[in-house]
Amino acid sequence: MSLGIVRTPQDRAAAIQEAFLRDEQARIRAAIAKVAIFRDLNAQAIDDLARRLSVRRVPGGGAIFAQDEAGDSLYILMAGRVKVVMFGDNGREVTLAVLRAGDIFGEMSLFDGRSRSANVVALEPATTLALGREDLLRHMAAHPQTAMNLLGEMSRRLRRADETIAELALCDVQDRLVKRLVALAHEDAQELPEGMLIRRRPTQQDLANMVGACRETISRTFNSLARKGLIVPRGRSLVVTRRLLAMNAQPARAA
Ligand code: CMP
Repeated sequence: MSLGIVRTPQDRAAAIQEAFLRDEQARIRAAIAKVAIFRDLNAQAIDDLARRLSVRRVPGGGAIFAQDEAGDSLYILMAGRVKVVMFGDNGREVTLAVLRAGDIFGEMSLFDGRSRSANVVALEPATTLALGREDLLRHMAAHPQTAMNLLGEMSRRLRRADETIAELALCDVQDRLVKRLVALAHEDAQELPEGMLIRRRPTQQDLANMVGACRETISRTFNSLARKGLIVPRGRSLVVTRRLLAMNAQPARAA
């Protein structure tokens, strides 16, 4: 049905919905084409995937799924940021990763058949595409390069997790905080003459959850770095100075 031949309000509503869905399909295809694990696919394979994906929208602060739920879908993040997080019995939480548009999650329980290994919570309104297990397995059988790309992504995540374990065992809180701030600066910052500007400064509680320390310790360490002029809080943003970047020349990815 085209918008040009509408007669009744019902026709018009149906035409608008059809146009919306057509646009949504185009947006889904464009999003898939940008996802690293699907980067080698031809247009036909992308069309086929797009037909199998369902869109899910989650408000900021909403859970996409909880740890221990059964996992039957792989998710592609189309818009917004989400955190992968575990909660302790004492109410503390640890942020394992912050994922952004183009990232995927939910693959672990699809492959090992166990429940979700962590909670995934939207940090801001987020849009995801969900791909069911059978559809993913069928797609990978037809396109082994996607499986290779996914293995590459899982290896990168394991490497990062190893680095985090090593940091927890070998570095003090200040070193861990410095590494995390430098990683955030390399990921999400604007270059300034005096350093890198992290536009959305994480709260001290967020930083504590990322580096595995309590908020009070992070607050003391953060203030000490600020007094030494190594970081400069600026409204809701934060300058990571060149001096601090030089102290930690190895860029690592943020949580
Ligand atoms: P799954 O176990 O199905 O559900 C939770 C998801 O969080 C998991 O799949 C991964 O996609 C993701 N995840 C778990 N741990 C990490 C991590 N350390 N880094 C990045 N993503 C992770």
